[in-house]
Amino acid sequence: MLKNKSNNRIRYSFEDIIGESQLITQIKELAARIGTSNSTVLITGESGTGKELFAQAIHGLSSRKNHSFVAVNCAAIPHELFESEVFGYEAGAFSGAKKEGKPGKIELAQNGTLFLDEISELPYQVQGKLLRVLQEREVERLGGTGSKNVDIRIIAATNRDLKSLVQEGKFRQDLFYRLYVFELKIPSLRQRKEDILPLAYHFINYLNDQIAQNVKYMSPELQEWLLSHDWPGNVRELRAFIERGMNLVEGDTLTIENSFLFSAFDATAHKTVEEEGTFAVSLEEAVTKAEIGAIQRALKESNGDRTKAAQILNIHLASLYRKMAKYKLK
Ligand SMILES: Nc1ncnc2c1ncn2[C@@H]1O[C@H](COP(=O)(O)OP(=O)(O)OP(=O)(O)O)[C@@H](O)[C@H]1O
Ligand SMILES: [Mg+2]
Repeated sequence: MLKNKSNNRIRYSFEDIIGESQLITQIKELAARIGTSNSTVLITGESGTGKELFAQAIHGLSSRKNHSFVAVNCAAIPHELFESEVFGYEAGAFSGAKKEGKPGKIELAQNGTLFLDEISELPYQVQGKLLRVLQEREVERLGGTGSKNVDIRIIAATNRDLKSLVQEGKFRQDLFYRLYVFELKIPSLRQRKEDILPLAYHFINYLNDQIAQNVKYMSPELQEWLLSHDWPGNVRELRAFIERGMNLVEGDTLTIENSFLFSAFDATAHKTVEEEGTFAVSLEEAVTKAEIGAIQRALKESNGDRTKAAQILNIHLASLYRKMAKYKLK
């Protein structure tokens, strides 16, 4: 439960940040300049815009790159465990503690970078303690008697407006100013529509390798739809959308139906495979089963009305007929 992505290695560098729009180019340039400094960085932006990607890239550019990148997701750690996770504890600090004690994330990030993701969720009492670490450059474990020097760089990220949380008294102002040295504002995907198609092709190429597909094109309707969608979930949503389509596509062209059919019935597909008691079933078989199940349910729900069924499935009527013929469904 507490494996908060702390494998201490980075997976992404600046080359992995796709996008040539003016907005993303400017942010990349700014991030590259910040990267070489040792200052604290606050990365802001909507969910799924690539904040963690930037955090890793900045670490990879810094003089700390050969040391750990330790990620702490502040929203994922239960409050009562927060202090011991982040500050560590000495032997016998509390009941249930490990006999030999345990270093906290701060110690694990020594000489490297501590990435505090979703910093807005940092419990209030921990905010004060963290501020002390940043000011004194020392950390004391729970139940400890002495403190250790720390040399870490902090990169924090949030998709909430920290300033208004400060105004509401939910986030300490002194900590806010300590973090707010450089702010890197990652623009939403809808603000940089030029990046949508390059990102989509990037994910297609990646998935071609991963799941042995050979997609080279996107249909004009799909491209148009991608460009007109608002992407509230930003790049993460785009990636998931493309991934769904890539699991269903046949041939070298990704179409809009590919992504939509699977989206509504994702959970059913998993269930079918799991009920079989085996994961050795090929992807194609699993997808076929999911499609058949989805179509049958839609037909049942619409009392055999195919137009309605196609609406439920969010596909064109023609494509419903094609699939029914293919699977010999009535
Ligand atoms: N510019 C980009 N190029 C390539 N991949 C990207 C880009 N931006 C985001 N991604 C991918 O999108 C997904 C979401 O990115 P990330 O986890 O960094 O978002 P986030 O801003 O931290 O979101 P959240 O606020 O929800 O934590 C990841 O799979 C990431 O690799
Ligand atoms: Mg994130």
